[in-house]
Amino acid sequence: SREYKLVMLGEGGVGKSAIIMQFISHRFPEDHDPTIEDAYKTQIRIDDEPANLDILDTAGQTHAWLTYEAEFTAMRDQYMRAGEGFIISYSITDRRSLQEARQFKQLIDRVRRTANTPVVLVGNKSDLTHLRQVSVEEGKELAREFQCPFFETSAAFRYYIDEVFAALVRQIRQR
Ligand code: GTP
Ligand code: MG
Repeated sequence: SREYKLVMLGEGGVGKSAIIMQFISHRFPEDHDPTIEDAYKTQIRIDDEPANLDILDTAGQTHAWLTYEAEFTAMRDQYMRAGEGFIISYSITDRRSLQEARQFKQLIDRVRRTANTPVVLVGNKSDLTHLRQVSVEEGKELAREFQCPFFETSAAFRYYIDEVFAALVRQIRQR
């Protein structure tokens, strides 16, 4: 069956690794263990068709990007080109991470020289309502700008996690 190369992007600490962990192993990592780069494989069925997912978890930590700038830029451009679909995630508790999401979209468009790369926008940590800094409307607005599907997720409660990956695979299949 077909393989899909997916890339998880977003600012440090927004929950990229937690989303992938919940998706694949139904586990929630309580601690923030900053990622350098990790790859995961899993097979699922989406719309009654099997899909082999190859998921790249990336580093959101800005200081890591700055410390090893040349290496990170080369790595990043490589997976930006190799990826077929991208999850751009921010945290609803961190306004800056929403701004970063826009930067990631610009980076994808620039490296791939097209605005039509399959993308899903994700506002994570929807369980932390008392810490919310970004409204649902703002998320939807950014998704309209990107012309892509949008979900508010909670990796902690496994809300809308499967939906994110299904939506991304559907986008790729429609190409
Ligand atoms: P980097 O690898 O450094 O880029 O971070 P990351 O985006 O992979 O974040 P990670 O998944 O490590 O999560 C960071 C912290 O946020 C951890 O303490 C998680 O437990 C917590 N976290 C992640 N998702 C959620 C969520 O949906 N709800 C809540 N309450 N906490 C979350
Ligand atoms: Mg991580």
